[in-house]
Amino acid sequence: MATPGVLCFRDITALAPMVRVGTLPMRLLALDYGADIVYCEELIDIKMVTCERVVNEELDTVDFVAPDERVMFRTCERERDRVVFQMGTADPDRALAVALLVEKDVAAIDVNMGCPKEYSTKGGMGAALLSDPDKIEAILTKLVQGLSKPVTCKIRILPSMEDTVRLVQRIERTGVAAIAVHGRTREERPKHPLHCDFLKAVSGAVGVPVIANGGSLDMVKSFEDVAAFRSATGAAAVMLARAAMWNPSVFRRQGLLPVQTVMEDYLKYAVRYDNHAFNTKYCLCQMLRDKVESEMGKLVKTAQTLSDICAAYGMQAYYEEVQVLLRSRRGLHPPETPVTLGGVTTMALRFHRRDYPPEITPKMFLLEWCRKEKLEQPHYHTVDRPQDRLFLSTVTVDNKQYRSTLWEKSKKGAEQAAALVCLRVLRLPEGRRGEEQQQEEESGLGGKRKRAVAPPLLAAAPPQEEQEEEREVNKKIHLSDREAETEVTNGNHHKTHMP
Ligand SMILES: Cc1cc2nc3c(=O)[nH]c(=O)nc-3n(C[C@H](O)[C@H](O)[C@H](O)COP(=O)(O)O)c2cc1C
Repeated sequence: MATPGVLCFRDITALAPMVRVGTLPMRLLALDYGADIVYCEELIDIKMVTCERVVNEELDTVDFVAPDERVMFRTCERERDRVVFQMGTADPDRALAVALLVEKDVAAIDVNMGCPKEYSTKGGMGAALLSDPDKIEAILTKLVQGLSKPVTCKIRILPSMEDTVRLVQRIERTGVAAIAVHGRTREERPKHPLHCDFLKAVSGAVGVPVIANGGSLDMVKSFEDVAAFRSATGAAAVMLARAAMWNPSVFRRQGLLPVQTVMEDYLKYAVRYDNHAFNTKYCLCQMLRDKVESEMGKLVKTAQTLSDICAAYGMQAYYEEVQVLLRSRRGLHPPETPVTLGGVTTMALRFHRRDYPPEITPKMFLLEWCRKEKLEQPHYHTVDRPQDRLFLSTVTVDNKQYRSTLWEKSKKGAEQAAALVCLRVLRLPEGRRGEEQQQEEESGLGGKRKRAVAPPLLAAAPPQEEQEEEREVNKKIHLSDREAETEVTNGNHHKTHMP
């Protein structure tokens, strides 16, 4: 990525669009491993145009939901600047309608012009477009003129090199930001050799970045092969499909990870984002490859639910943890119930300055308590989310970690919220106004005395403005810190990928 926030198609490696494979868990995993750009699976315009955009507060995703309640496309903040929405279309107006529906949640819009399958071509979509360059031009021009996000397309080569070059030059004139080229004709199957000479010719014939595709079978096995594939094709960038489907850690600069590790990482995302069990199974079976008939493979194939799949991988505990967390987000537990996920105890607590006397904070109380107990002083680790500049802090006390699930507007606020969670879980004084009186009453020391004032946390409704601000911040809350991209430790910022 050349400039943060602006999608650049030069010198990048992309996860190719793949039906059934390119759903949210795979895209996030590919990003974790190092892919720069991730394409979603091809989604057909006729279906997409009926979808409603729904903010899913529980999962922290944006869902595009069909009238039959099927989620056709699920995305989240983490990938917003990296995900390319690929559609199948043969109609410029409908293509624009769909693109406008998803535009603000994605980084670019792509049109599939290479799919040779009958379900695509019989509707004039996919590879059928290759023999109708006027239609290609009409669709791409409409999109480029009607959208503020980059538009790209993915084609296959034509039988003649001259025709392929002419087509790519015509596409370039529509104003697209990049052209992905699969170096096989529509008649050729994936096992056929790739035409690197065609890719080289088109790359040299246009100024727009050409993304070379088709090298998974014999050219790219791990990340170190990517550079050779690029130079063999003279392309600006590389797009990987099958190599990534078999092992998405192909994007990892440090080399491939064992498939078992990758499958577990994938399953975590599938559970976290409530991915459909059958889709999850499909992707895991692709990763299992020849081991799909092993004992493990059989367990995966017969699984009916995400819970069954987790059982096959010995990940039931993880599944349960996530369910508890999701239930708490659904409001089935009061927000103050502590929930432990991945070894961190969390509560939905926010730090409000107005609840404390001047100069008093939860951090001070926590530090004081640690000193008294002769423990190491609390250690705060804060991450920030660049897209909305919110912060989340984890405090370590006595080798245990505590965190609020609510993102704060400042690093200081996030640390105070983490300290608050720790104090609340350990049932320690927090320093709030009126706290002593409240505790006295709760412990019965106040006898029959009627509570004179409500506890400060509930005492006064915050002013309207503050409530609205809080609602706004709550909308942005993320469930876990997987999405966090920038780590802030002791004030230093550096890029990190959460596991
Ligand atoms: C399972 C699977 C699904 C695919 N779905 C799509 C798709 O939705 N859109 C598309 O343009 N190409 C699709 N393709 C084609 C790939 O994007 C890619 O062009 C092809 O596999 C060659 O690249 P590779 O050698 O890296 O696999 C699919 C390929 C596979 C294996």
